[in-house]
Amino acid sequence: MGDHGRMQSTGSEVAASADSPHPHFNRRVTSFRARRSTISDNQQATWDRLWPQLGRQARDGDNPAGPLDTDAWFGRHAPVVLEIGCGTGTSTLAMAKAEPDIDVVAVEVYRRGLAQLLSAIDREQVANIRLIRGDGVDVLTSMFGPESLTGVRVFFPDPWPKARHHKRRLLQPDTVALIADRLRPGGVLHAATDHQGYAEHIAEVGDAEPRLRRVAVDDDLPISVARPVTKYERKALAGPIVTELLWERTP
Ligand SMILES: C[S@@+](CC[C@H](N)C(=O)[O-])C[C@H]1O[C@@H](n2cnc3c(N)ncnc32)[C@H](O)[C@@H]1O
Repeated sequence: MGDHGRMQSTGSEVAASADSPHPHFNRRVTSFRARRSTISDNQQATWDRLWPQLGRQARDGDNPAGPLDTDAWFGRHAPVVLEIGCGTGTSTLAMAKAEPDIDVVAVEVYRRGLAQLLSAIDREQVANIRLIRGDGVDVLTSMFGPESLTGVRVFFPDPWPKARHHKRRLLQPDTVALIADRLRPGGVLHAATDHQGYAEHIAEVGDAEPRLRRVAVDDDLPISVARPVTKYERKALAGPIVTELLWERTP
């Protein structure tokens, strides 16, 4: 996604746009910035056709969505992985296709990213992805219960590199504790970042969470941790090194 750099902003700069799903975001610090995004006519047509079935909003105005019945939504009982900040969904799509027995819920605030993913799901007829538009923290808080997730993926969360913006980083002790609570024992938190400072921060926060235990890529895990290289990562690979961080929820 070429415009990630534009997401570096202070809380006071955050402005609700006409396209903003949640005007209330203005009132608190978030890990993202509301912005306008346009989608093509074809994407809009696909959105109109598929969103009612495959998509949900994390909030309706000030009201958070209620608990999600994933079995009903996917039409089967399967392990569920939540991906927060899926961008245009390159990893989401590839990983869901590689693991058809796992159900993937992709969360993103950026409508154009979700529209791209929805069109790809349609084109490739992928059955095991559902989309939520909104803040991943809202989704974890109100839509999933304790021990309901087999995995949580956070790939290249916005690093908010300036010290005064660090409070905007998604992976903070509170969010990591919430993720640990939503993971079932043995469930996996998989984060990846190309920002060294954020990698160190995530490592510290994850290691400090008592319900998480650090694991390695080649350990026996209930979900795949093989990520495809995304467009965003290709750019990163020209520069900084990507750090993969993995924890499992303790019993
Ligand atoms: C740097 S991009 C990475 C996108 C994608 N994971 C990838 O690897 O290409 C970070 C994405 O996270 C989204 N994001 C940031 N905070 C979020 C939150 N609290 N809930 C949902 N999405 C969020 C942003 O809109 C942005 O698209």
